[in-house]
Amino acid sequence: MSETKKTLTTSQGAPVRDDLNSMTAGERGPVLAQDIHLFDKLAHFDRERIPERVVHAKGAGAWGYFEVTHDVTKYTRAKFLSNIGKKTEVFARFSTVGGEKGSADTERDPRGFAVKFFTEEGNYDFVGNNTPVFFIRDPLKFPDFIHTQKRNPATNLKDADMFWDFLSLTPESVHQVTVLFSDRGTPYGYRNMNGYSGHTFMWYNEKNEYVWVKIHFKTAQGNKTLTREEATKFAGEDPDFATRDLYNAIDKGDFPAWNVYVQIMTPGQVEKYRYNSFDITKVWPHADAPLIPVGKMVLNRNPKNYFADTEQAAFSPGTVVPGIAPSPDKMLQGRLFSYHDTHRHRLGANYHLIPVNAPRVSGEHNNQRDGAMRTDDNGGGAPNYWPNSFGGPSPDASYSEPPVPLTGVIDRFGFELTEDDFVQPGELFRNVMTDTDRAHLIGNIVAHLKNAQVRIQKRQTALFYKVDKKYGEGVAKGLGLRIDEVAELAAMTQADRVKATL
Ligand code: HEM
Repeated sequence: MSETKKTLTTSQGAPVRDDLNSMTAGERGPVLAQDIHLFDKLAHFDRERIPERVVHAKGAGAWGYFEVTHDVTKYTRAKFLSNIGKKTEVFARFSTVGGEKGSADTERDPRGFAVKFFTEEGNYDFVGNNTPVFFIRDPLKFPDFIHTQKRNPATNLKDADMFWDFLSLTPESVHQVTVLFSDRGTPYGYRNMNGYSGHTFMWYNEKNEYVWVKIHFKTAQGNKTLTREEATKFAGEDPDFATRDLYNAIDKGDFPAWNVYVQIMTPGQVEKYRYNSFDITKVWPHADAPLIPVGKMVLNRNPKNYFADTEQAAFSPGTVVPGIAPSPDKMLQGRLFSYHDTHRHRLGANYHLIPVNAPRVSGEHNNQRDGAMRTDDNGGGAPNYWPNSFGGPSPDASYSEPPVPLTGVIDRFGFELTEDDFVQPGELFRNVMTDTDRAHLIGNIVAHLKNAQVRIQKRQTALFYKVDKKYGEGVAKGLGLRIDEVAELAAMTQADRVKATL
């Protein structure tokens, strides 16, 4: 035994004489209230669970670094991107979305792809998914959307009616539904998938000139997916497959890497672009905005403790550094509120002091004080107000973001559904997918949609028909629906289609 072997202590640090036998009055009990160690141990145990994330509850994380490989200083002043070869420590967390903390890693679902960069100008969080688009484009719809992907309030079962009812009443979802029901909805673990910002962000340089960007992490391991049958088998035989795959690879020194790119559009290009560049249901085809290389991310260290790092990690698209800012994308704007809010609920007001979240390189210098679990020196005796004339930290106007022109009236503007909403999924179906991909897509949809009511099946299949005739026909055939009836529904406006399928 090593000489440094420690004596077991209470949580207050006092030595524990016996950790197997409670203190009792007599050999057969009862237990005495003075067994403080017993009650401390039970009380702590009673509080071991924190709320799981309301979405993205099941995940795996790892530490690593980001290295700049190309000069992007003409686009952004972000210090961590300022020199080729510059390295920044990162913590990444990958996740499924709808399932609970104990759910299977191979469920059909988008995968979360979140990376925290510990930079000298504060932390920067990339909070994307493995899909470049999303189901909805207004944050007001997000809680309802998520309810339909979780459990029925009465039965506590996953419910195909809820799932497809909402999606068929929300036709802008059809692009993401097409991605999700392809085999990309069941990636082979976390190492073999890409990450996308989805949203457009702003990058601005030292001169405060700005461009709009979308960020892509491309897996260096190659994209690999599971078929529906494989994913179902894994869910039964090794439900923690993706977690194990990531951990084991890093443990044996096979460090996963991703190459990072940006797509860029100038404000002028965005103005004239065919699509709304701030609509997350659309991609920017590479022909319109080619991939520009930026750097690479390598994950090379497993957390020593899952709860300390992965479970307590708190990412937010609002955590940005000088040189990076949000765009007006209304979904993104809703997210800017939601993440810090949920962190305060899930981890507490001082969640930013937890080591995995703390801005470990820049430090935190402000006048926020107190609150539960303030575990540092709470600013000591330094001034806790601004302005002050006692040398406290002061704002620096050189970090101002570029002014962005904005005009308009205040209202609740619906994103009008247009035929444009069906163009990109159509291109994906016709031009990107192979025959096998298309067959798997249709098979995956039929296997799920067949569990919904027939009227909902018809409404959703009409949307697939609008994307591409063959797509709609394939799904209709698989479900045993009449193709002429689906075609008729597809020709209607969304409002009429809904009326016809109530
Ligand atoms: C209005 C839309 C959205 C809202 C309100 C929202 C809200 C949330 C909330 C509350 C969490 C839990 C965070 C936590 O407990 O730490 C979360 C997690 C997450 N969200 Fe969203 N979300 C939205 C859309 C999106 C989109 C479009 C993406 C991807 C482009 C995304 C990516 C993620 C990821 C990756 C996580 C997991 C972060 C982690 O690993 O801790 N979300 N979201």
